[in-house]
Amino acid sequence: MCLIQSRQMDDKENRERLLDAVQVFSDYFQKTIMLRSVFCENRHFLSVVQAHLNEEFGHNFKLMKDRKYRVPVWHPILEATAAWFAWKMFTLDNEEKTVLIHLVLEASANIFFSAAHEVMRRYGETDYFEVHAQVDAQHEQMGIDLLDNLSAKKYVNLMTVQQQGWEMLNAACDQIACLSTRS
Ligand SMILES: [Fe+2]
Repeated sequence: MCLIQSRQMDDKENRERLLDAVQVFSDYFQKTIMLRSVFCENRHFLSVVQAHLNEEFGHNFKLMKDRKYRVPVWHPILEATAAWFAWKMFTLDNEEKTVLIHLVLEASANIFFSAAHEVMRRYGETDYFEVHAQVDAQHEQMGIDLLDNLSAKKYVNLMTVQQQGWEMLNAACDQIACLSTRS
């Protein structure tokens, strides 16, 4: 958030490096929501899972096109933190997945993409952030109703998952910021 609102975004190379790093996270986000859909058999969750996938499907290719298909950056911390969300689609239950997708990934996208869109729109290089800036508030809310009427013990468990998710996300964002300004 500090980087996107700083003068460092005036530099075209910094903007390109930022998009190269965001591409890695965007690619893993696609894998995450697809895995969630593939492994969801619970009808209570299925309609939200499918509606969300329909709205997000292929958005990473839009960014790839705007980046003119440059090879994205590779960094072990970015790779590991982004892949962690996809891995969790194999191991968590439906409520836990809902927390990670809607109350971590979409909640953070709602904050970051709105700010990023305000800055990046000046340069006309990508409108990748625009669609997210418009719909991610709604994507964050999509998950809320699925988490009604659970036990106190379950909510404590979900808060742990949420905390871990934000820590992984913040580690990914720190690394994206480092990679964006590396000369
Ligand atoms: Fe979204």
